[in-house]
Amino acid sequence: MSILKIARMGHPVLLIPAKPVEDATAPDVQRLISDMAETLDDAGGVGLAAPQVFSSLRLFLYLVPASRAEGGAEMPLTVVINPVVTPLGEDIELGWEGCLSIPGLRAAIPRFQRIRLTATGADGAPIDKELSGFEARVVQHEADHLDGVLYTMRMHDFRYFGFNEETTRHELPLPKVKLKT
Ligand code: NI
Repeated sequence: MSILKIARMGHPVLLIPAKPVEDATAPDVQRLISDMAETLDDAGGVGLAAPQVFSSLRLFLYLVPASRAEGGAEMPLTVVINPVVTPLGEDIELGWEGCLSIPGLRAAIPRFQRIRLTATGADGAPIDKELSGFEARVVQHEADHLDGVLYTMRMHDFRYFGFNEETTRHELPLPKVKLKT
């Protein structure tokens, strides 16, 4: 295993639509997953997409920390390959997001509250589940990376964009209004 370099905003690899993974269980894919898991753990984030480590493949990893889990228990690392995200309903909410490719900053981004995720897991088995809240948000953020989209491209209001230290110290209440994306 090794810790990989993370591409930062401005590098073109973050803007390229990624290619589908042909064989989830292939040794090179499994090695990439292991390296991404180590990289995410080292960086202390909640999600990492393959294009962020210079591999333009439709694959990402995410977790839900205990502090954000609905039941209060941490959801361990989930590997998502070739995802398809379908919104469930039209409810959209603003929530704060950061990105390992945009260190030190965060912004309030509109996302669907509920989604369906269909994909392939690290073992090659199908994933088909309905997600809501923080988990749905993380999956939408990571899936965007596979299409060359960063959260900055989805910003609703630039007033809710700033440095982590400042935005957490002076947290602005986010509007509850329904938004159209
Ligand atoms: Ni990101």
